[in-house]
Amino acid sequence: MTDANSNDLMSLCKRRGFIWPSFELYGGVAGMYDYGPLGCALRNNIVEMWRAIYKGREGFVEIDSETVNPREVLAASGHVENFADLITYCQSCNAPYRADHMVKGFYDNPDVLTPKQLEEAFAKHGIKCPACGGDLGPVGEFNLMFRTNIGPGSARIGYLRPETAQGIFVNYPNLYRYNREKLPLGVIQTGRSYRNEIAPRQGMIRMREFNQMEVELFVDPEDKDWARFSEIENGTLDLIPNTTLQPVTMTVREAVEKGVIANRVLAYFVYTTKQLLTGLGIDPSRLRFREHEKDEMAHYAADCWDAEALLSYGWTEIVGIADRGSWDLSRHAQFSGADLTHLKRFDEPKEMEVEKVAAKHKALGPAFKSRAKDIVAAMEKLSPSDVKDGKLKVSVDGEEIVLGEEYFEIVRRTEKVAGIRVIPHVIEPSHGLDRIFYSILEHAFCQNEDGYTVLKLVPAVAPIKVGVFPLMEKDGLDVMAKEIYEKVHTHRVEAYYDGSGTIGKRYARMDEVGTPWCITVDYDSLRDGTVTIRDRDSTEQKRIRAQDAAAVVDSLLAGRPFAEL
Ligand code: ATP
Ligand code: GLY
Repeated sequence: MTDANSNDLMSLCKRRGFIWPSFELYGGVAGMYDYGPLGCALRNNIVEMWRAIYKGREGFVEIDSETVNPREVLAASGHVENFADLITYCQSCNAPYRADHMVKGFYDNPDVLTPKQLEEAFAKHGIKCPACGGDLGPVGEFNLMFRTNIGPGSARIGYLRPETAQGIFVNYPNLYRYNREKLPLGVIQTGRSYRNEIAPRQGMIRMREFNQMEVELFVDPEDKDWARFSEIENGTLDLIPNTTLQPVTMTVREAVEKGVIANRVLAYFVYTTKQLLTGLGIDPSRLRFREHEKDEMAHYAADCWDAEALLSYGWTEIVGIADRGSWDLSRHAQFSGADLTHLKRFDEPKEMEVEKVAAKHKALGPAFKSRAKDIVAAMEKLSPSDVKDGKLKVSVDGEEIVLGEEYFEIVRRTEKVAGIRVIPHVIEPSHGLDRIFYSILEHAFCQNEDGYTVLKLVPAVAPIKVGVFPLMEKDGLDVMAKEIYEKVHTHRVEAYYDGSGTIGKRYARMDEVGTPWCITVDYDSLRDGTVTIRDRDSTEQKRIRAQDAAAVVDSLLAGRPFAEL
C-alpha cells in the first residue's frame, strides 16, 4: 500500500460526496466547504466518539449557545482587541498575505516574529508577492472576526463567534448552579466558529467557517490533580516542550514529575486528546504534542499544548489544549459585574474577620432619596475588590450609578463564613473538527497492490459500515440481499445496497469510501441460508448465517476480531 497526495484525496472527497467546495455554481468562496452525505456521516461519528469520552467517560455536560455574539462579550474576552493575524499587501497587485506564512521555511516558528522582524525577513530573504513578484508592504494587524449588526440599522454591534468557548463562559452562573455549585465542572460544546482568515489556501485546514468541539473544564485553581490520573499515567506522549524545543518521548507520569507538563490536570487532558485522536484513526507515529513558545501563546492562555498531525501540509495543529487560567471568568466578571466565583466551602463554617462594603446611610439618603434603599441593597452585594480608583459602580433598575467614597466605607467584621470565593481556572481542549476530519482521511488514505484506493478508516468512524450485494440482481438473490440490508441498516449502522457492476468493482467502490465489511448473497445463500462477509483490510472472506448478519456486524463494531468469526 502506498500513500497518495492531498490532491488525490480532495478529488476523492468531492467525487464520492465527502466534501464539496461551497457555492461552486457561483465560482466558490475560498475557505468554505459543504459536507456531503458521506462527510456528514463521518463527521457525526467523530463527534459521537468525542462525546463518548467527555460526556460518557468523564461525565461532562453539553450545551449549545448562540453563534452571533454581542460586542460586549468579545470585548470582555479580549477578542475585539487582540484576535488578529499579521497581514501584508503586495505593493503592486494589492494581494493580501498572512505575513508569518510568507517566511515559512526560513524560520522554525514564524508565529513568534514581530511585524518589524517580518518586514526585515522579507528584505533579508528577498521574499516577494507569489502572484506578481511585487514587493511586500508594511506588516499590520487584521482582526479575524466577522462583524455584523444585531437588529436593523446599527442598533447593536455583534460578531460571529471566533470560538465556541465564550458561550460556555458567559453561561458559567447557569452551569455552576446546574452542577449544584461544585467543581470540577466540565462542559462541552460543538458548533460553528467563524474567522475571516486572510489567505485560506490549505483546503480544510484553514476555513472561514469551521466546526469546533470544545471542552471547558472549570477547576479549583489550587487543585492540580485529577482523580483518574493513575489510569493513564503510564501512557506515552511524543512531546516538544517550549523549554528545549526538542522532541522527547516520555510517560505522562514522567512528563509531570519532570515539570515538562505543568500539572496532572493538563497532562491528563493532553493524553485524553491522544486517546481520542488515535481512537479516531490518527496514526500515532504522525502525532505529536508541541508546547507553544511564550510569545506564541493566545492572549488568554497561560500555557498551551497543540496536538499536531503530520499531513501533506507538514505538521499541523488539530487540537489546542490550553490552560486559560482565570482569564475568561475574571474578564467577564469585570465587564458584566456578575459574580463568577466558586464558593470553596469549609468543612464547618468558620468565625472569620472579613472586609465588607458598608453604605454611609447619612450621605446616601439625602442624595438619592427614594432610590437610596435599592442602592444600599445593590452595594451590599459587592465586595471590596469591586472598588476601582476609590469608586464603586452599582446597577439599579438598569441604570449604572458611580459612587464616590463619601457614600461607602470598607469595614472589618467578624462573621461566620461558609467558605472562600475563588475564580475557577479553565483547562480547554479545543478540537478543530474539520482538521481532525481531514487528518483522519489523510492517514487512512492508501492504495492497494492493484492501484485501487482504500480508505482504512477505523470502523467506528467509517460512514458506511457494511455494503450488501447480491451476486446478480436476479433469481431472488436481490430479494435476499435487500432483506439483509433492511435488517442491518439503522441510523447507527449505515449499510449500503449495491447491485450493479462486477463484484470486484463493488468491493473497490466500498474500499474507496472506507467501508470495513461487505456481505454478498450468492447462489449457495439460496440453498443453505449463508452469505459471505469480506474484511476490507485483510480481504479475507468468511461464511456466516444470513440471519446472523446484523448481530455479526454489531459484534465486529464492538471490537470482535474478524479472524475470530
Ligand atoms: P492556526 O494557528 O493554525 O491558525 P489557531 O492557533 O488559531 O490555529 P485555535 O485558535 O487554537 O487555532 O483554535 C482551536 C482549534 O480550532 C485549532 O486547533 C484548529 O483545529 C481549529 N481551527 C482554528 N482555526 C481554524 C480554521 N480557520 N479552519 C479550520 N479549523 C480551525
Ligand atoms: N477556544 C480556543 C480557540 O478557538 O482559540
